[in-house]
This record gives sequence, structure tokens and C-alpha cells, in this order.
Amino acid sequence: MNRLRPFVRTMSTSALPPSTIPLLTTVAEFRLWREAARRDNKSVGFVPTMGALHDGHMCLVRKSLAENDLTVMSIFVNPAQFAPHEDLATYPRTLPRDLEILTAESLSVSGDSTIRTASAVFLPSVREMYPSGIDQNVAAQKGTFLEVKGYGEQMEGKSRPTFFRGVATVVTKLFNAIEPNNAYFGQKDIQQCLILKRLCRDLLLSHPDPAHVHIVPTARDPTDNLALSSRNAYLSAEGRKIAPTLYKALKVAEQAWNDGQPKELCIAQATDIVRNVATLAKESDLEVRLDYIEFNESDSLEVLDRTRCLEVDSRPVILSGALWIGSTRLIDNIVLGDMAKLQ
Ligand code: PAJ
Repeated sequence: MNRLRPFVRTMSTSALPPSTIPLLTTVAEFRLWREAARRDNKSVGFVPTMGALHDGHMCLVRKSLAENDLTVMSIFVNPAQFAPHEDLATYPRTLPRDLEILTAESLSVSGDSTIRTASAVFLPSVREMYPSGIDQNVAAQKGTFLEVKGYGEQMEGKSRPTFFRGVATVVTKLFNAIEPNNAYFGQKDIQQCLILKRLCRDLLLSHPDPAHVHIVPTARDPTDNLALSSRNAYLSAEGRKIAPTLYKALKVAEQAWNDGQPKELCIAQATDIVRNVATLAKESDLEVRLDYIEFNESDSLEVLDRTRCLEVDSRPVILSGALWIGSTRLIDNIVLGDMAKLQ
């Protein structure tokens, strides 16, 4: 008997769009679904998102479909990871389209006639996720929040000091609600991946345990290698043309690194690439500004202070950067060394 069938809601009941994938909006509802999956001995893969789905998100879904009996996606725009001046109100919300994209994704399991699709979408309200309420201003917040100290202040955390606190808090809540066997995150947000692995280790979580927090390589636009991102939608036509500059600059730094140059020279060469593009963009009144390009240790996330470090047994190094194009901030990274060694 398929105990999961009663959860299928084919027509919208309230504000939800119609969906052939069960849409669950409360933790209580989700726990019943999860209990049924457990009784049926089904493994559960989890893909947390904020929606506005693109192929980067779908790469995570495909991996989860391949590695688990059941795949759950959450779509929740998390207020706690947006600073008061950031784009919470305008963050793209495209639920009907997201559900179409997710429904269209299927995977046939080899050696089996089974076709897997996503099994459930968790769509909690803000109140459901933050029963004590949530203020974007950290000083005004009440209730329980999580910080992964020492790992969220550098790289992205320098420009977005409360971001990882918001991410760690919401993902822990989602892990508690979903209790996944495996969870999938994108390399595009490499610091997020490493912090969440650390969080699972520090909190002794078993669902998932840190080894089952998987990092999926960054999906890129095949025409110009721009990392896919929901925020690319904010770019003007001119900005979109310039956006691949960040990855180009990182590739130049990577090449210099592989040629044996010291990190300062690698960064200087990458910075030159951006500077040249910024000068040209200024002529058409578009401000292009490098936030940072840096090399960080992958285990401590501290700024790299070794000159060379790719000895056989050493941990990989993260080469990452952020670029402002007008009011849109884009990030990207390259892992130098073996991705499989990321912990
Ligand atoms: P969101 O930006 O929607 O991303 C959801 C997941 O998709 C993240 O793991 C992200 O790294 C991954 N992703 C985004 N672009 C990608 C790309 N081009 N290639 C591969 N993976 C990509 O990240 C978040 O949401 C939130 O912080 C969240 C973890 C859901 C917590 O609120």
C-alpha cells in the first residue's frame, strides 16, 4: 500500500496553485508525511530553496532523485537571512512556475521501471517557521537563533554579517521538520555548504549527518559560464553582458595559481580584469564594482596565508569573489583541489 498517496492534493484549496506534487504547508502535516515515508522504508532527499527555480536548483533535484527513494523540496523566502536594507520584499516569488518546473523533472531508475519525480513540496508560512516572530533587525529579534561562530564572518559574511545566522537558523529548523537522509546544496554558495556541514557536525545531527550534506557543482549558462542565480533576473541587458566577468576573473586567478604564482599576484591579475570592464561600463553609466576576490582555507574558512598549499594531502582552497553590477550583487567561486575532500 502506498501510504504517501493520501497526501496528494491535486487542486488548490486556498491560495496555493494546483499541483500534482503534494504541497505541505505545516510542520504537523509534513511530520505525518515523513512518518509514512519512514514506515515504508523510503529514503528522503531534501533540496531547500527560496524558489524562483532555475537549472541550478534542478541539478540538486536531479541528484536527489538519483540517490533517494523520495525527494522533498522546500520553498521558503527566509526573512532572517535578509538584512533590513536587502531585497526581501522584491526577491522573485514565482510559485506557479516553480511547481511547473519541478513537476516536469523526472528520472527513470535504471534496472527498474520506476520513474521518480519530486514527492512533496514544503511551503511553510513565515509564522510556521518563526513561531516567536521574526524581525530582520537582529538587535530586535526574540527567540532562538543559531550562529556558526568563526565561519560566517569572512568571505560573504564580511558584506552580509547576519546572513549565515539566518541561513543556519532556518536550515536547522527545516532539517528538524524534514529529517532528511540526504540534503543537497549548490557549490555556488560554497560558504553556505561548508557552514551547514559544520553545523551538522557541531550539533551532532543525524538527519542529515554531515557526510550526507552534499555539495553539487555550480550550474552555469552554457553560452558564457555565468553561474545561474535567481538574482540574475535583476540584471539589465547591459548588466547581463558584463556578469560573466566575475567568473572570468576567477579563472585568471586560478590559472595564475596553477602556474605557481603567489596569491597576491593571482588576485591582482583578477582584479585587473574587473577594473577594465568597470571602466568600459562607466561609459554607459553602469557601476561595476568588485566587492572582493580572496583565497580561503576550506576547513577553517580563514584567509589563506600560505603561499602554496596544494600538497597531496592538504585540504582544498576556496577561490571566491563577489561583484556588484549596479545594485545587483553576484557571487561565484572555484574550488582549488579535490571537491571530495571538502568537509
Ligand atoms: P536559493 O538561493 O534558492 O538556493 C537554493 C539552493 O540552490 C542552494 O543550495 C544554492 O547553492 C543552490 N544553487 C543556486 N544556484 C545554483 C547554481 N547555479 N548551481 C548549483 N546550485 C545552485 O541558498 C538558498 O536558497 C537559501 O540560503 C537556503 C539554503 C534555501 C536557506 O534559506
